[in-house]
Amino acid sequence: MKTIGIIVGSTRKGSFNRSLAEYVAGQAPEGYAFKFIDIADLPLYNQDLDADSPASYTTFRDALKSVDAFLFFTPEHNRSYPAAIKNALDVGSRPYGENAWSGKPGAVISVSPGAIGGFGANHHLRQVLAFLNVYVLQQPEAYVGGVMGSLNDAGEVVGDSLKGFLNDFLKAFIDWIEKF
Ligand code: FNR
Repeated sequence: MKTIGIIVGSTRKGSFNRSLAEYVAGQAPEGYAFKFIDIADLPLYNQDLDADSPASYTTFRDALKSVDAFLFFTPEHNRSYPAAIKNALDVGSRPYGENAWSGKPGAVISVSPGAIGGFGANHHLRQVLAFLNVYVLQQPEAYVGGVMGSLNDAGEVVGDSLKGFLNDFLKAFIDWIEKF
């Protein structure tokens, strides 16, 4: 059994990113499981904390180490990914020499109500993941724009086109993970 850690970059109730993450989490193929790794309660990273890390840092780093791959769902904030994700990347990358992200496959899905589908967020995140030695799936890319048109009032993914896209993306990501 392989486990894919899901990181959702939005901390708000009713998040569209979380809606898509929950849909994908319900599509695990045989031999795979998903685990949500929460980033909302991580204190802002401060290098002074490396010597005596808060329990939330340790729990988070252990969660990263416990999974086989990472799947990010990111909103776009001002043409980049949100600070909550950057904080999580930094916390997971330290103390120096103990980068918990390193050496595992990953993938990025950006989600926005806007037309560009979080392109800026997606590529900024890929840049940092490359440095952290996460092997990011190159193709297909996933920029989900106009997302509200594919969700119902309860925030569930109901659009067949989006469902099909997410299912195909997940298949490609599983193929990618199997290469490692
Ligand atoms: C946004 N939003 C936004 N959308 C976008 O497509 N490009 C952008 O650059 C921004 N910038 C931005 C900045 C800030 C501070 C906020 C709060 C929002 C809108 C954003 O896509 C929208 O709030 C989504 O609903 C966020 O995703 P979740 O929270 O629904 O998952």
